[in-house]
Amino acid sequence: MNVTLIGAGNMGRGIGHRLVAGGNSVTLIDSNPEAAETLAVELRGVAKNGATVKTATLENVELGDVVVLAVWYGVNLDLVKKFGNKLAGKTVVDIANPLNSTFDGLATAPDTSSAEEVAGAVPAGTKVVKAFNTTFAGTLVDGQVGGQKLDVFIAGDDEDAKQIVSGLITDGGLVAVDAGPLHRARQLEGLGLLGITLQFKHNLGFTTGWKLTRGN
Ligand SMILES: NC(=O)c1ccc[n+]([C@@H]2O[C@H](COP(=O)([O-])OP(=O)(O)OC[C@H]3O[C@@H](n4cnc5c(N)ncnc54)[C@H](OP(=O)(O)O)[C@@H]3O)[C@@H](O)[C@H]2O)c1
Repeated sequence: MNVTLIGAGNMGRGIGHRLVAGGNSVTLIDSNPEAAETLAVELRGVAKNGATVKTATLENVELGDVVVLAVWYGVNLDLVKKFGNKLAGKTVVDIANPLNSTFDGLATAPDTSSAEEVAGAVPAGTKVVKAFNTTFAGTLVDGQVGGQKLDVFIAGDDEDAKQIVSGLITDGGLVAVDAGPLHRARQLEGLGLLGITLQFKHNLGFTTGWKLTRGN
């Protein structure tokens, strides 16, 4: 699978590691081309099973089947508007936690979510999947927390798109947990906020993960 990964920051690095570990090829874009190049070198060093890593710009990129928006809330909306019809038929992954300016609440209204706002801004035929917002960047680089595979909660209205994103997650050695339709992103973004809140309250250093477990 060819994945376009926009944003070569903390999450771009974490998701990039899991993608290339799973043999999936990545095209990296960042507003700072040097940051994209530096991360590309790092990812090439850990790529498995023939995965390739290249860089591009927003203007010249040939979009992959999956486009991951590893950028902040607001920038995600600007980007999908900028790409416009180029996104038709693609699967767009929104990872944002839309935090307010004081980091103690969500900037989105209770009856929507970052992912739903992205879905409202893409052209017809574009599938939007929420994923990765409940996992921290460093744990994605490691691919595990405390010796356990990371759970990646996903939400979306298109089953095929969720299958594609689940495949990328499991290829990378993680567990995909389907939380349901795209409006479940409201709860996932709330869970992301809670996860961030707990880091500060309990001094956890962004090293934790959410795990869905069951008894026999
Ligand atoms: N960090 C986490 O552990 C974590 C966990 C879950 C979810 N998230 C979510 O993941 C998203 C990214 O977080 P992050 O920690 O990775 O942030 P980050 O380290 O700041 O990375 C964002 C990257 O996107 C680049 N960028 C900004 N505008 C761009 C544009 N128009 N086109 C291309 N690249 C652009 C930034 O470049 P510049 O620095 O040059 O602006 C930066 O390199 C946020 O929505 C956050 O809520 C983060």
